[in-house]
Amino acid sequence: MDPDDSTIPLDNTISETVEYQGRAYQQYALSNGTYFAPIDEVIKALTNFQQPTLINSPIQGEIARLELANRVFHRVFDNRLIFPPVASPRNILDLGCGGGDWAVQVSEQYPDASVLGIDISPHMLPEDAPDNLELQIDDLNGRYDVPIPRDMEQAEWSFFGARFTFRSDRYDVVHSQMVAGGIHANRWRSYIRDIFRVLRPGGWCQMVEIYFNAQSDNGTLTRAGEDHALSRWSSHYLQAMHPYKDPRAPLQLASWMRSAGFRDVESRLLTLPMYARDRIIGEENNGNIHELLYSIALYPLTHFKGMPLKDFEELVDDARTEASDPSFKVCVHRPKASSVK
Ligand SMILES: C[S@@+](CC[C@H](N)C(=O)[O-])C[C@H]1O[C@@H](n2cnc3c(N)ncnc32)[C@H](O)[C@@H]1O
Repeated sequence: MDPDDSTIPLDNTISETVEYQGRAYQQYALSNGTYFAPIDEVIKALTNFQQPTLINSPIQGEIARLELANRVFHRVFDNRLIFPPVASPRNILDLGCGGGDWAVQVSEQYPDASVLGIDISPHMLPEDAPDNLELQIDDLNGRYDVPIPRDMEQAEWSFFGARFTFRSDRYDVVHSQMVAGGIHANRWRSYIRDIFRVLRPGGWCQMVEIYFNAQSDNGTLTRAGEDHALSRWSSHYLQAMHPYKDPRAPLQLASWMRSAGFRDVESRLLTLPMYARDRIIGEENNGNIHELLYSIALYPLTHFKGMPLKDFEELVDDARTEASDPSFKVCVHRPKASSVK
């Protein structure tokens, strides 16, 4: 089925937000256990904690952090948006498109292509999308039932109700980046099989995920070194997410792709330096990591694990100090994989 066939307006269920410790979250995502990171443009109410300032920008929320993360990726990927050898893609699907950074850039780079960006949250989607970029609301886990529209006039974004009902054999490229925080632990294999189904024969899937296990390349931060705040942050985060999501999924993408039927699977594990080994990447990623240490872990650690906010903020503060310490040379790994159908 073509997404255009049966879009229906967005209802309030998906638009509602809730404030938690000064950050805005999508109510639907929290109450359905879908996604636990904020969706804010600005951080509304600050706690006593000193929020970081992103590089060259005033204090901003998750949208700005994702933009910064995408800038870092762009540099690490040698300014390439699509890694596989796809000359002139006609149909491109971006799953969990967030602030639309990749989707907008790819739409501009391939003006003749039709690009569809999907996200569970309408809150971060770009307001001025290029004409060849369509944005829709859908749950990649498929738990969002078709809502009964309450007010057709108020709908801002269309919602395509049933899950992954995109036409089979349609897309030249399917892109899925940093969605591990939103894919249910037991959904990964069927998620990748769904991607396989909607790709046209010869089409490519490109996945990028961050494995949040801080490691150093000179042994100053080791898994055994639980005294280090970054190690403690990593292990708290992995534990807190574990029952719901699979924080180790990034390490298994290639094998799941092969099981789904993909061939020519190429998987690379890249380290993302937290400090300025490469000056620009290091500086920008340092800003990204500073923000991310707080934003993605706030809800899982304080709500799921019951860590008092004060302890959480101390942990983040110490972890940020370590992430900025050049003697630590800390890296997070960023596996990327691409494969052809
Ligand atoms: C960390 S952001 C990454 C955004 C974008 N892919 C990027 O690389 O900048 C994760 C995005 O996935 C979306 N997301 C998480 N779980 C989802 C789900 N089950 N269905 C649809 N979107 C989801 C979130 O709303 C968020 O926008």
